[in-house]
Amino acid sequence: MSGGSASIGGHVSGFAATRRSDGWWQGWALTAGGLFLFFGYLTLRAFTGKYYWADPYISPVASPPLFTPVNGPGVVPLHHAWFGAFPSFWPRFLPQSPAFFIPGLAIAFRATCYYYRKAYYRAFAATPPACAVGGAPLKYRGETALLLFQNLHRYVLYGALLLLVFLWYDAFAAFFRNGKFGIGVGTLVLIINATLLSGYTFGCHSWRHLIGGKLNCFSCDGASKTRYKIWKKSTWLNERHMLFAWLSLFWVAFTDFYVMMVSSHHITDLNTW
Ligand code: FES
Repeated sequence: MSGGSASIGGHVSGFAATRRSDGWWQGWALTAGGLFLFFGYLTLRAFTGKYYWADPYISPVASPPLFTPVNGPGVVPLHHAWFGAFPSFWPRFLPQSPAFFIPGLAIAFRATCYYYRKAYYRAFAATPPACAVGGAPLKYRGETALLLFQNLHRYVLYGALLLLVFLWYDAFAAFFRNGKFGIGVGTLVLIINATLLSGYTFGCHSWRHLIGGKLNCFSCDGASKTRYKIWKKSTWLNERHMLFAWLSLFWVAFTDFYVMMVSSHHITDLNTW
């Protein structure tokens, strides 16, 4: 128990005051450190605008690319971008980064995720920092004021599902260089990335509701039986949502790092081409 705290009906009050004798702060510190590290890294990379491409690999930070710079180290080739080069009216103070478009959906999906809400409430607002631990003296107004945007999660899910299609496309495209089939370490890295992100997305609470909610009978007809089967698989993933949230976050950052290292010639990709 922290010093200076008052005892109220068996509980203690005051910031970080608790009767817990375990190392509750370790989970808090790890969560805060992990969020800061990985989201910080990915944000920095989104603003660099380079080393997103190492044929045939594309970083998930830049995929899918709507626009791409004409020149620059490791930029996505023009023919690979949906609309080619960045338009001339693109503001000069902003780097020409494909990460500012559809990949931004991934940030919106995580920022509104029910698990991440808990994680960043605890880590950064400390309201409270852990179960049965006194919180910061902030007035919690939940999703009715500042955090109103979190209610968009169920809609952002559709964007995240679309993003998965592109990431799986990138993973399969990573088997082909100049039209020739092969496999490299980068191929495996991209496949694992798409797999972990699928595990995270299909364990989403909103997906689980979408697929299995509003059904009174799980065995009445073929469609409801199929939905029940998918719902059960989603439930398995949902029970491990935190695990997939962290594994996929780490692996997205690692995939980008790997592509950047190959693209900048700091490492050589082992492959069969
Ligand atoms: S609840 Fe976490 S992704 Fe939907």
